[in-house]
Amino acid sequence: MPKSENFWDKRAKKYAERPIKDVQSYNQTMARTKAHLSKDDSVLEIGCGTGSTALLLAGSVQHISVRDTSGTMIDIANFKAKDQKIGNTTFARGSVFDDALGEQSFNVVMAFNLLHLLEDMPSAIRRVNALLKPGGLFISKTVCMAGQSWVWPIALPIMQFLRLAPFVRFLTTDELEGIITNEGFEIIETGNYPASPPSHFIVARKT
Ligand SMILES: C[S@@+](CC[C@H](N)C(=O)[O-])C[C@H]1O[C@@H](n2cnc3c(N)ncnc32)[C@H](O)[C@@H]1O
Repeated sequence: MPKSENFWDKRAKKYAERPIKDVQSYNQTMARTKAHLSKDDSVLEIGCGTGSTALLLAGSVQHISVRDTSGTMIDIANFKAKDQKIGNTTFARGSVFDDALGEQSFNVVMAFNLLHLLEDMPSAIRRVNALLKPGGLFISKTVCMAGQSWVWPIALPIMQFLRLAPFVRFLTTDELEGIITNEGFEIIETGNYPASPPSHFIVARKT
């Protein structure tokens, strides 16, 4: 399997050029996310890709710190932030475990299309919990592929062997909710945008 950073570095330019696949689902996700954001919020986004979502949401909050393990994704995101003259975002290469991120310093942590790619998902969610202020929100959307098709469980290992796919965890929506709840969260909102395969949107409050 390719190292995650190398895999995403190689795909960053194409990822940036690719139009959003399902605009309606993306808009629903953004609308539901914005409903939980406030102008004085300090926000962290992990696994930002080329930064489009952080830049879109920047006007709804005080500041967004952003991390992605791919340096090429971060370079593109920084270019876009400068080009769009958006000054309240800080993009840096790294993960949720970056020591520069202070515990209990964020009102909201966001992770879109990331959790199923993490080999250390429970410990990453535990770290999200530690980074949030008391009562802070973890907002995520994660594709849940378990039981959806017989094709992917066969095709994915072959693609991984050929270095055409990264690590992917096959989750059900219930499993995902269970892992988040186990790490010290109460789920306050869910949705599927789109419904099939479920791209599971979860808003969870730190308990
Ligand atoms: C499927 S893309 C999603 C990008 C963006 N959030 C979106 O919804 O379009 C996954 C991103 O997560 C990044 N990534 C992978 N593993 C990561 C990790 N452990 N920590 C932070 N970012 C990671 C990849 O570099 C890639 O940019």
